[in-house]
Amino acid sequence: MIPVMDRPPLRRLEARQLGSIPSASVAAREKRPFVQRLFTAIAPRYDWFNRLASCGLDQRWRKEAVVRGGIQPGQRILDVCAGTGDLSFLCANRQRGDGTVVGVDLNREMLRYARRKQRSKRSVISWCQGDAEQLPFADGTFDRVIIGFSTRNLTDLTGGLREMARVLRPEGRLIVLETGYPTSPVVRFGYLVFLSTVARLIGFVLTGRIWPFTYLARSVQRFLTPRQFIERLQSVSAQVDYVPLSYGLANLYVATAISLREIAQ
Ligand SMILES: C[S@@+](CC[C@H](N)C(=O)[O-])C[C@H]1O[C@@H](n2cnc3c(N)ncnc32)[C@H](O)[C@@H]1O
Repeated sequence: MIPVMDRPPLRRLEARQLGSIPSASVAAREKRPFVQRLFTAIAPRYDWFNRLASCGLDQRWRKEAVVRGGIQPGQRILDVCAGTGDLSFLCANRQRGDGTVVGVDLNREMLRYARRKQRSKRSVISWCQGDAEQLPFADGTFDRVIIGFSTRNLTDLTGGLREMARVLRPEGRLIVLETGYPTSPVVRFGYLVFLSTVARLIGFVLTGRIWPFTYLARSVQRFLTPRQFIERLQSVSAQVDYVPLSYGLANLYVATAISLREIAQ
């Protein structure tokens, strides 16, 4: 396991960068409908935004998650907050027709694009509209649960992680891929400038809206540090492995499930 560092204090720099982003603070109880509106608004251009804003790194990170998470043929896999399905498709490719992949997401529009892509890819994936914080599956159903770029959007993060652990079989793995916030001051400065300018501009050009990308930039800056996130994962799992990707621009966590009795305690 790689040692985890806390973020260096860069408060003045952060304040300056945050000042250039209009306020998009969202109270907890309003978060879910806000997040739903956001993804409904950007669903048609979501994939384009990801590819352009990450220069294609997003797919490389997803592949890394699938490989390091031990996705293999014969497994039952759940992709939580599947969105337009990129992680589900990579899991299905790796299974080569032997196994089960289910993609669950709350947003109908995002799932509509996932289904549309499925027609051209010919993968066998079941799509299901449902809430990550109340998963519609029995205890211990899956060998792997994977979630990409979405833990930031959950209203109750610990509750959501507990739900994901609940539907995993004992010794199953929870694979979490999340946008990161680099610890190196130089990389971090460049990333802050990029998030608040270039990424928002790309989003605006693609969708004609700026507020979704303002929120996304802020949510990256305000999310838990790797150390804090590992602590959350440790509350629902036996062991957590952490891998920073591309200088911490993304973070990958692979947690091994503990038994349901232990989770309940
Ligand atoms: C940033 S997208 C990630 C999509 C996909 N995992 C990927 O790799 O591109 C976040 C997704 O999480 C979904 N989402 C947010 N909150 C959710 C919840 N409580 N339950 C299910 N899906 C949720 C959104 O609808 C959206 O499709």
